[in-house]
Amino acid sequence: MMRDAEPKVIRLQDYQVPNFQITKTELHFNLEPTETLVTSKLQFERNAKSENKSAALELHGQDIEIQSLKINGEELTDEQYQVNPESLTVFSVPDVFEFECVGKINPQENTSLEGLYKSRSMFCTQCEAEGFRKITYYLDRPDVMSEFTTTVEADKALYPILLSNGNPIEKGELDNNRHFVTWHDPHKKPAYLFALVAGDLSVLDDTFTTSSGRDVALKIFVEPKDLDKCDHAMTSLKNAMKWDEDVYGREYDLDIFMIVAVDDFNMGAMENKGLNIFNTSCVLAKAETTSDTGFQRVEAVVAHEYFHNWSGNRVTCRDWFQLSLKEGFTVFRDSEFSADMGSRTVKRVEDANVLRTLQFAEDAGPMAHPVQPPSFIEISNFYTLTIYEKGAEVVRMIHTLLGAETFRKGSDIYFAENDGTAATIDDFISAMSKASGKDFTQFMTWYRQAGTPVLNVADNYDAENQKYTLTFTQSCPDTPEAKSEDKKPYLIPVRLGLLGESGPLPLEISDLGISGVTDTVVEITESTQCIEFSNVSEKPVPSLLRSLSAPVKLQFDYSRDQLIKIMSNDEDGFNRWEASQQLCVQVIQELMSGRQSEQPVAVDPNLVAAFDRLLKDDNLDPAMVANMLSLPSESYLAELAEEIDVDAIHQCRAQLKKTLAEELCESFAQRWQKTPATVDYKADAEQIGLRSIRNMCLSYLVASGQEQWFGVAYEQFSSANNMTDQFSAMSALVHSDSELAESYASKALAEFYQQWSEEALVVNQWFGVQASKAHPNTLEQVKALMEHPAFTMKNPNKVRSVIGAFANNPVCFHAIDGSGYKFLADQIIELNALNPQIAARLLTPLTRWKKQTQQRQALMIEELKRIQSVADLSKDVYEVVSKSLV
Ligand code: PHE
Ligand code: ZN
Repeated sequence: MMRDAEPKVIRLQDYQVPNFQITKTELHFNLEPTETLVTSKLQFERNAKSENKSAALELHGQDIEIQSLKINGEELTDEQYQVNPESLTVFSVPDVFEFECVGKINPQENTSLEGLYKSRSMFCTQCEAEGFRKITYYLDRPDVMSEFTTTVEADKALYPILLSNGNPIEKGELDNNRHFVTWHDPHKKPAYLFALVAGDLSVLDDTFTTSSGRDVALKIFVEPKDLDKCDHAMTSLKNAMKWDEDVYGREYDLDIFMIVAVDDFNMGAMENKGLNIFNTSCVLAKAETTSDTGFQRVEAVVAHEYFHNWSGNRVTCRDWFQLSLKEGFTVFRDSEFSADMGSRTVKRVEDANVLRTLQFAEDAGPMAHPVQPPSFIEISNFYTLTIYEKGAEVVRMIHTLLGAETFRKGSDIYFAENDGTAATIDDFISAMSKASGKDFTQFMTWYRQAGTPVLNVADNYDAENQKYTLTFTQSCPDTPEAKSEDKKPYLIPVRLGLLGESGPLPLEISDLGISGVTDTVVEITESTQCIEFSNVSEKPVPSLLRSLSAPVKLQFDYSRDQLIKIMSNDEDGFNRWEASQQLCVQVIQELMSGRQSEQPVAVDPNLVAAFDRLLKDDNLDPAMVANMLSLPSESYLAELAEEIDVDAIHQCRAQLKKTLAEELCESFAQRWQKTPATVDYKADAEQIGLRSIRNMCLSYLVASGQEQWFGVAYEQFSSANNMTDQFSAMSALVHSDSELAESYASKALAEFYQQWSEEALVVNQWFGVQASKAHPNTLEQVKALMEHPAFTMKNPNKVRSVIGAFANNPVCFHAIDGSGYKFLADQIIELNALNPQIAARLLTPLTRWKKQTQQRQALMIEELKRIQSVADLSKDVYEVVSKSLV
């Protein structure tokens, strides 16, 4: 963590094959909280492909106290090697040899949660991306793949369960109440997929029979108190295993698949071979303690990690510049899985929301990078929305362009050609190209250029000749690595249709040989390009970029009438939602300009009427109605703004919500009344839809400010049989800006804590709702929460739910006195020493100063500079801070 010089920039163009391979890796762990002894026996061979045939052996390693080093059984003398803070060099080695190292590490003091560490009473590991080097000296790079045999030895009473990758091959008792288990993983793997767990754990057991008839033992290990919260993860796992066989032809390849839940974890979960380690927040679920979004997250993450067994483990990444090869593809796979398990349109809306608020903001910020970044300082900073979500969108576009069948052919070729190897994004594209015969040269722009493309569309209707023309113009804004004018045009797949007075119009595009359909995909490849439709009998309303067919910002000058038409008539459910959002955006923006010119405007009655029709529509999927009634978030509105006025956004959005609530009070009440509360909780699409429309109505009714609804919400809060209903009701009360609601809200908050004080994940939700409240007192409240006995800076989930939630609370974080910025900077400085990864992630909101007002910019920059001046800045924080000050 200490730096003397500027940290080194790692570049893709400098990639070189490793000088050595490690054919076999034998590890022995003698687990003790403060001094664990790790003995490694590694079989090295010079790599035939290496250019340097006499290279020294240079191993990665960090914070390891060396006890002994041997080559072919001979202890090394001091002259034979050199130890640096992050490496060990053995000057002269033979072509084939055995290297043995005994090293001492301290899991107890490891608060970075990388390498081997303790989470509560458990030992666990996290090795991706470069954590293995904190366990033992190694070639810690994904293109070095080895066969692992691991013996874990520990106190038998404290750690009855000892796990590692693969299959258990031996176990036994030892002196001093200790025992051991030896695991062997037959599949070669890079070190980042290594895992070890030791603890006093309970297990949920099940089995899955693969399509070829093999039985796989499934085990979910948790702390005993959580054993009642594993069923949903187990069901999700079995569904995912079946889905990957059905949709991708991929079978599981070991006799045992294990999941372990740990409390202290930097990310969501990790796909270690045969031994996935999960953040408790992504595996535990139970109706009483977990909301619908929680259930859905568990299903998605369990599937995601399972799918990595093929897209990530069987075929891994050559280097970390290829990260999106496994992550983009796997997110696409888990997103399609969730769509198949629940409602496809709702899932698409959720994904689009994440992409357009969070990823687009990343693309516009100082850390913007291509899906294949050309360089990095700290790879942990590149587990981003761009690598994951935009990467998934890029794979989705390939799927759209090729069609499901050809895409599947391509994925079969990809797995067949690269199985057991460390591959590149180009290998993936080459397989897709072989399957389809398509030239992907231009498409690669999606991997190599940063920034969100803007797709501007204008239309023209020639009534006389019945011709309709759409003119597409694309551009991509400046990003840190390239100017807009130097960027190449993208290949943008645009799914579209045309709406006439009485329904969809048939599409005839003679240039493309398209006719007789009402929905098609056109490929936009030029900076400016026209698409001409013939035999168009009336001036249509274009429905563009259906299902968000490309991760771009669409600009089309829709009138409100046109939006209302799409909202009520389009064949594409996604675009109906999108039209409702754009309608709200227009109305909120109108309120904002009225506010700015001090000439207040009224809410457009057309929007009110459209919402009324939605509320009364019984034919639409309730979940979609709820989504359409849900106003664009403050962060999405900020994303759309040239200069962000957080207060105006907050107030105008709240004003719209209140107006809708007041004017449609009857309709909201009716819809609420006729939607029954669900009885036997299920996290299926139907019930989730019902709960979401019911709670959406309740949130409007509370926003109307009428006290009777505070009583109703409180009643729902106290009598709910599931967390979705309980939390939604409390949240509506907490976020109400009516003073009358305050007593209800504080009563609910107090009772909620009383009820759930033993459930850490629920307490985190309780932290989060308080830290996100738009109220002048919130910062004080947040500081008080950090003194709460349930809070600790060492647990990332708690840090995220208090500090993270506050930093993403637009109004309070951006308080004009700079108090929010100062507070965050103080926390970053503390976290920098404890957990650099979390510190760097949490810093993000402070780096997004470019679109804030001048006064705020100055305050934000001042705090960034204060962080920059801290001694012992981690690489993680250094990279983010320095890039944000350019
Ligand atoms: N590879 C993990 C996933 O996406 C994420 C992760 C990265 C977890 C780094 C821990 C550390 O599934
Ligand atoms: Zn992943």
